[in-house]
Amino acid sequence: MDSVNLAVFASGSGSNAENIIRYFSNHSSIRIKKVLTNNPNAYVIDRAKNLNVPVRVFNRHEFYETGLIINDLKSDQIQWIILAGFLWLVPASITEAFPGRIVNIHPALLPKYGGKGMYGEKVHQAVKSAGEKESGITIHYVNNEYDKGNIIFQARCPVDPSDTPETIAEKVHGLEYKHYPEVIENLICK
Ligand code: GAR
Repeated sequence: MDSVNLAVFASGSGSNAENIIRYFSNHSSIRIKKVLTNNPNAYVIDRAKNLNVPVRVFNRHEFYETGLIINDLKSDQIQWIILAGFLWLVPASITEAFPGRIVNIHPALLPKYGGKGMYGEKVHQAVKSAGEKESGITIHYVNNEYDKGNIIFQARCPVDPSDTPETIAEKVHGLEYKHYPEVIENLICK
């Protein structure tokens, strides 16, 4: 059987992207074919290159006002898009080209602490400020609103009074590394 080809979109450090690439290297039916980023300075570029995954950097004009990204994804025979710390809203042209085949991870228990501007450390700071007793991760389908697509999977971790945004981030990253690749695998190979 031919592999199912995935593209990973990331905007920053890319530790999840790296974890996903490592998990699926030598996988029998899933291949991470390309990493795409909107950020020419993102560390994910180095991570992907070190793991021999080609990288495509794109700008706002290409992403929102042309069909170039879709054309590239199609010519690479990409079947699923995995967002891993990707901060731009995905336009309807792309969600329509990959219906039900774009997945995101959010570092909190949606619907809480989602929406525009809620990413990375800002989420953990908001969780801490609100005095939450737990946080976690949400893996969900992507539609044309930030963090609003149907939820596929959630996992939780306790938040103690002594936790800081940094220690909450560590716990949440741990959940992300543990679960995101497996959830992707189950979605695609089920
Ligand atoms: C991850 O925690 C991911 O859940 C979050 O950005 C971080 C990226 O870290 N995504 C969002 O906040 C999306 N709204 P990484 O670059 O090290 O994988």
